[in-house]
Amino acid sequence: MTVKIFDTPEVHDFLKTVAGFEQEGGSDRAKQIVHRLLSDLYRLIDDFDVTPEEFWATVSLMNELGKASQFGLLSPGLGFDHYLDMRMDAVDAEAERTGGTPRTIEGPLYVAGAPEAEGFARMDDGSDADSEVMWLTGQVRNLDGEPVPGARVEIWHANAKGGYSHFDPSQSEYNLRRTIIADDEGRYRARSIIPSGYGVPAGSPTDKVLKALGRHGQRPAHIHYFISAPGHQHLTTQINLAGDPYTWDDFAFATREELLVDGRAVNDSAEAEARGLEGPFTEVVFDITLARTAAPELQTRHKRPRALEEAAG
Ligand code: DHB
Ligand code: FE
Repeated sequence: MTVKIFDTPEVHDFLKTVAGFEQEGGSDRAKQIVHRLLSDLYRLIDDFDVTPEEFWATVSLMNELGKASQFGLLSPGLGFDHYLDMRMDAVDAEAERTGGTPRTIEGPLYVAGAPEAEGFARMDDGSDADSEVMWLTGQVRNLDGEPVPGARVEIWHANAKGGYSHFDPSQSEYNLRRTIIADDEGRYRARSIIPSGYGVPAGSPTDKVLKALGRHGQRPAHIHYFISAPGHQHLTTQINLAGDPYTWDDFAFATREELLVDGRAVNDSAEAEARGLEGPFTEVVFDITLARTAAPELQTRHKRPRALEEAAG
């Protein structure tokens, strides 16, 4: 037997009290949003006849997520990060800011304060001799095709086991994380290792939520970017290395056709020598187009709590 009590004056009045509508203090926006959120959840409990057991199991799972600092990991899996991107894309389209390299999600694993280099950086610490060498390069240009010298290109990616430094204690500090200042022609170059796909930690609270939905927590091999330059719109994006089985099955919904890059396997020793490499490598080229803007708030990344952001300033 199911009961329906949501649409009664008692429950409607109760929600107003809970959301602080009768109080002078607090934030009006917080009151409105909490009122809407609780109304939707109360209605859901009524409609789905949620049992006390189900409710308290969910509270416990949320405590687990919090204890493991995994709300930021679950968020992309539930599509929130991509949904925010879709909204920012729509805002840009309405303002007729179109045509540059598309954005895609930042993800939860950026760490501020990576070493900075001019034009070129070696990103890996050399400890992984079994990985494929990656030569990662590209040019930053504006919408007219002119180079953007001095653009800040921040790059971070996983190692061949899918782990990120800082979060994976087996890696050295800032391994596979660098900021490269583009040269006079807007070009950046990096020597690194080919990353593997990433998976949310098996058995973690995030994994439990995904499993309940019959989903996996895998991402295709990808490389994260922040690109910025004075007078240009800040860009948060990623590239995916083409040919990954998860390319179109990314649990974080970050893949975009324009951001798929084919690596080029190079065995020619002259090409290796020209780049200061000793043997075969895979070249990955990602050119970036930035839109111009005079608005300062569009020139920087969104504020959000990030690892070491405060320490790095
Ligand atoms: C997650 C991890 C990533 O490396 C990423 O790019 C996006 C999401 C995650 O664990 O949610
Ligand atoms: Fe990632």
